[in-house]
Amino acid sequence: MEKTRFQAQMREYAKLVNAQLDLLVPEETVSEKPLYESMRYSLLAGGKRVRPVLVLGFCKMCGGTEGQALPFACALEMIHTYSLIHDDLPCMDDDDLRRGRPSNHRAFDEATALLAGDALLTKAFEVALSPESITQLGASRAAEGAHLLAQAAGDHGMIAGQVLDLQNDTLPQLTAQRLQMTDAKKTGALLRAAALLGTIAAGAGKSARQAAARYADALGLAFQIQDDILDVTGDEKTLGKPIGSDAEHGKRTYVSILGLSAAREKVQALTEEAVEALAPFGERADFLQTLAQALAVREH
Ligand code: IPE
Ligand code: IPE
Ligand code: MG
Ligand code: MG
Ligand code: MG
Repeated sequence: MEKTRFQAQMREYAKLVNAQLDLLVPEETVSEKPLYESMRYSLLAGGKRVRPVLVLGFCKMCGGTEGQALPFACALEMIHTYSLIHDDLPCMDDDDLRRGRPSNHRAFDEATALLAGDALLTKAFEVALSPESITQLGASRAAEGAHLLAQAAGDHGMIAGQVLDLQNDTLPQLTAQRLQMTDAKKTGALLRAAALLGTIAAGAGKSARQAAARYADALGLAFQIQDDILDVTGDEKTLGKPIGSDAEHGKRTYVSILGLSAAREKVQALTEEAVEALAPFGERADFLQTLAQALAVREH
C-alpha cells in the first residue's frame, strides 16, 4: 500500500481508538481522582496503538465493522498499557521514561502506578463484556473474545513471558531458543490476541483465524527483536523511552546474543513470513501487510 494512504489509515484508526479510550476512562472528580489521573496519564500518552490497529485491521479485512472491533481494540490497549506501567516499576525493569514522559510511578508514586495498572486490567474486561460489546457482537462472540484476551494476558501468555524474562536474568547462559519462547509470550501473546480478536469480532471462520495467528506470531517476534534493536540504536527522544536500558540492567536480548546484523536479518525474514501468511486474502490484506513492513523499519 502506498505510504501516504497507509499513514492516513493509521492516523484514522489511532484517532478512533484515542477518542474511545478518552470516553471509557473519563476524568473524575470523585475522591479517587488521582487514580483516574494516573490511568489517563499512561493510557492517553500517545502509544503507537499497534494492538488496537491490528484488531481494527483484521476485523475490516474479514468483513466486520469498526463498531464491532472497537470494544476489543480498547480492551487490549488497556491491558497493554497496564503491562507497560508495571514493566517500568523498580521491581521489574526500573525505567523512568515511557511514551515520551516520566514513567507512571515517577509521575505519581509506586502504589498509584500499581493500582492504575490493576484498574486498567480490570477495566479491559468491563469493556470487552460491556452491553455495547454484546450489542455489537452478541453474547457468545463477546464472551469468546474476553476468554481469549484473558488467556493471552495471563499466566499462559504475557505474564508467563514476563516471568520467563525475569528468570532469564539469573541463567548463566541464555539460548536463542529460550529467548524466543520468552518473547513469544511476553510480547507475542498480546499481538496474536489482537489479530485473533479482529477475526472473532468479524465472525470469521477457521482458515482466517489460522492465517491471522501465523501473521501475528511472526510479527510479534519481529516486533520484540526490533524493540531490542532500538534499545541499542534508537534515539531517546524519538523512542520515548530510555536507550541502553537492557544493557544497563544486564538484560540479554537478540542483539547481545546474535549481534545487530543477524537480529536485523531476523526481523526481515519474520516480516516476510507475516506478509506471506496473509497472501490468501489478496488485496484486502494490503493494509496489514504494509503495517508489518512499516513495523520492521520503525524508529519508535
Ligand atoms: C512496547 O510496546 C513493549 C513491547 C512489547 C516491546 P509498544 O512498542 O507497542 O509501545 P507503545 O504502545 O507504542 O508505547
Ligand atoms: C516488555 O518488554 C513486554 C511487556 C510485556 C511490557 P520490554 O521490557 O522490552 O519493553 P520496553 O522496552 O520496556 O517497552
Ligand atoms: Mg521488560
Ligand atoms: Mg521494559
Ligand atoms: Mg525493550
